[in-house]
Amino acid sequence: MDLYGALRPLIFRLDPETAHNLAFWLGERACSWPWLPTPEHPAALHRTTFGLTFPTPLGLAAGLDKGATLLPLWKALGFGHVEIGTVTPRPQPGNPKPRLFRFPEAGLILNRMGFNSEGADVVATRLRTRPAGLIVGGNLGKNKETPERLALDDYRAAYRLIAPQVDYIALNVSSPNTPGLRNLQAPEALKPLLEGMLDLRKDMGLEHQPLLLKLAPDLAPEDLDAIVEVAVASGITGLIATNTTLDRGVVAEPLRTRVEAKGAGGLSGLPLKAKARAVRQRLLGALRGRLPLVACGGLGSAEDVREALDDGAALAQIYSALIFEGPALVSRINRAG
Ligand SMILES: Cc1cc2nc3c(=O)[nH]c(=O)nc-3n(C[C@H](O)[C@H](O)[C@H](O)COP(=O)(O)O)c2cc1C
Repeated sequence: MDLYGALRPLIFRLDPETAHNLAFWLGERACSWPWLPTPEHPAALHRTTFGLTFPTPLGLAAGLDKGATLLPLWKALGFGHVEIGTVTPRPQPGNPKPRLFRFPEAGLILNRMGFNSEGADVVATRLRTRPAGLIVGGNLGKNKETPERLALDDYRAAYRLIAPQVDYIALNVSSPNTPGLRNLQAPEALKPLLEGMLDLRKDMGLEHQPLLLKLAPDLAPEDLDAIVEVAVASGITGLIATNTTLDRGVVAEPLRTRVEAKGAGGLSGLPLKAKARAVRQRLLGALRGRLPLVACGGLGSAEDVREALDDGAALAQIYSALIFEGPALVSRINRAG
């Protein structure tokens, strides 16, 4: 058993957000250790997609390092890329606590964090000292109090600050914890949003920087097809699928009743696997290779990551499995190639 395995029962006895804060406190100290390893990824693991060469296809999904505070540590663990954020243009506290729940027996997380963010200014400043050799994506969202009709202004405000400091941008229109956000996935709302962002990208001289769109797993197959056509026609660079699900049907009884008792929020981890895969397969079929897709959602092992890449995904991201399996999961997945 590794160190994380030994400490797991203790960690899981703590309130989830306390455990998260403790891990980040320790992680921040570890980031300044001179003996932090620098993994060398063999050439066979390298992936070139959307104009960037990733040292390994495995990345850390958005939402864990919202403020880009632990980048040297993620690199040392062996991630090829990290998606920081979601970053909102102005700072906001997120939803009241408790807002994060773990169900270790099922490898399941329920969260309604609601974009707790230090704001784009603070995060952009921190990114100026980011480590080399790690690809960093900036995941952007809107502030809670911004009305839906002004969403584009928020994404643009965050983009202006974050885009110059990162390698790619992901537009998050799929978090279930900001009221109305997912409505931006409707083609009539998506089209002006993507056009507005691409105009800004051009104005800032960042035409070559990838712009991705992160989607929810709760869309009907025909909606996914329609989104693909809007995305391809707009000229954005790729898709990330998926975010967390609102569908409690992915959890079987008796756990489902316990999950429902915790209230609102998005589900992630193993119970999301089949649903996220079905969405990805539908998207890949509709894309027909026209844009690359980053797989995310319920990936819990080297086999899961392999399956997602074999399905046709360009890269894969994990979040929940890292919490349950611990940091050694990253090198296990990388070693399996
Ligand atoms: C606690 C928590 C917070 C998250 N916050 C964000 C976020 O801010 N932005 C985002 O795009 N996705 C966020 N996600 C979603 C993850 O990036 C990922 O899409 C989802 O968890 C599915 O992957 P997984 O099953 O490997 O966890 C969050 C997930 C969790 C568990």
